[in-house]
Amino acid sequence: MALVALGVSGGIGAYKAVEVARGLQQRGHDVAAVMTANARRFVAPLTFEAITRRRVATDQFAPGINADIDHIALASSIELLLVAPATADVIGKLANGIADDFLSSLYLATTAPLLLAPAMNTNMLSHAAVRSNLDTLAARGVRVVEPGDGYLACGWVGRGRLAEPEAIVAAADGMLRGGGAWAGRSILVTAGPTYEDLDPVRYLGNRSTGRMGYAVAEEAAARGARVLLVSGPTALEPPAGVEVTAVRSAGEMHAEVVRLAFDAGVDAVVMAAAVADYTPAAGPQAAKIRKADADLVLPLRRTPDVLADLGARRGDAPAPVLVGFAAETGDAVERARAKLVRKRVDLVVANDVTEPGAGFAVETNVATLVSDAGVEPVSRRSKRDLARVILDRIEVRLGSRSETA
Ligand code: CTP
Repeated sequence: MALVALGVSGGIGAYKAVEVARGLQQRGHDVAAVMTANARRFVAPLTFEAITRRRVATDQFAPGINADIDHIALASSIELLLVAPATADVIGKLANGIADDFLSSLYLATTAPLLLAPAMNTNMLSHAAVRSNLDTLAARGVRVVEPGDGYLACGWVGRGRLAEPEAIVAAADGMLRGGGAWAGRSILVTAGPTYEDLDPVRYLGNRSTGRMGYAVAEEAAARGARVLLVSGPTALEPPAGVEVTAVRSAGEMHAEVVRLAFDAGVDAVVMAAAVADYTPAAGPQAAKIRKADADLVLPLRRTPDVLADLGARRGDAPAPVLVGFAAETGDAVERARAKLVRKRVDLVVANDVTEPGAGFAVETNVATLVSDAGVEPVSRRSKRDLARVILDRIEVRLGSRSETA
């Protein structure tokens, strides 16, 4: 059992921090709540006191607080400082070393790792000042649970809503179990297009650049996972610390993915590759196909569906967690739902590749996550940020599986 300091700052999501405290307790952790002055406008300290059965740290100059050994010892006795919700103001203070209240002073005084769950208005979240503060903290090794999308208290619809309490708890629990939710765990990621050779000079390919899969691989490696990346032909640099297997065709990708997924006993598979559905029926010709006057008709045969094969092989076993992508042109959610069932996977990341800022050869992506838990829109963001959301969701599944195991 670890002691977690739960920092609560002044956002409407402050009430959800109560559920975070409960979730941490259910996983066997002890929670000490620390509230900023603004947080106390949203939720009464008494709520946290009743739930945590500990005095809530509110004001560093409150009479009695410095005589209370528990509070003086907090900085040295916690194993994690979790701030949920983390407002733009608190993020700014933590990034810049400002220590003008109990929470911001605690951050400087403790050597425990920091986990942030930001929550704010969409424009605030995308403001250059907030982005640069978050980058500063990330460079210092601070973990962030990505905010979700939806209706914000300010009436806007967009990104900035506090992540769901279960995702925050899963991330915190993972960090407490040593080195993060991925310590001792492995993930297989596929990326890029496949090339189906017609002859020594021609192939059938697609527009995938591999960026989405590489972003997932990089983020998983940053979280401490062993990462196996099976990559089709791309121009990207292999991410540091990732074990890369280069493949060319759908057939090769199928063979490598099945071998690695089950031999290495990975905990999750993310199929971000755009795998060709068809390959020349006669296989690649040894000699270059010469042109003739007549039209060329090229018989194609279906390639193995790698993801569906993984789903069938896994059956009802708890591992690996399977995530597929669906590049759609309209009607993305319905098709993704059908894929979820047909391929027997846990999560489908659907994107409408016709939307601006989504799909191939752009830096950002717009997606809808479809799982048996429901449909979750993820607004336009960098592929790395989308990778964070996907990994956060996988962590929730890994956590619940290890509990039931
Ligand atoms: N996939 C796969 N093996 C294939 C084709 C696709 O593993 N031979 C995986 C992709 O990596 C992706 C998901 O399946 O995770 C995409 O599903 P797919 O049914 O191929 O979707 P689309 O090709 O996008 O759509 P459609 O069903 O309309 O062909």
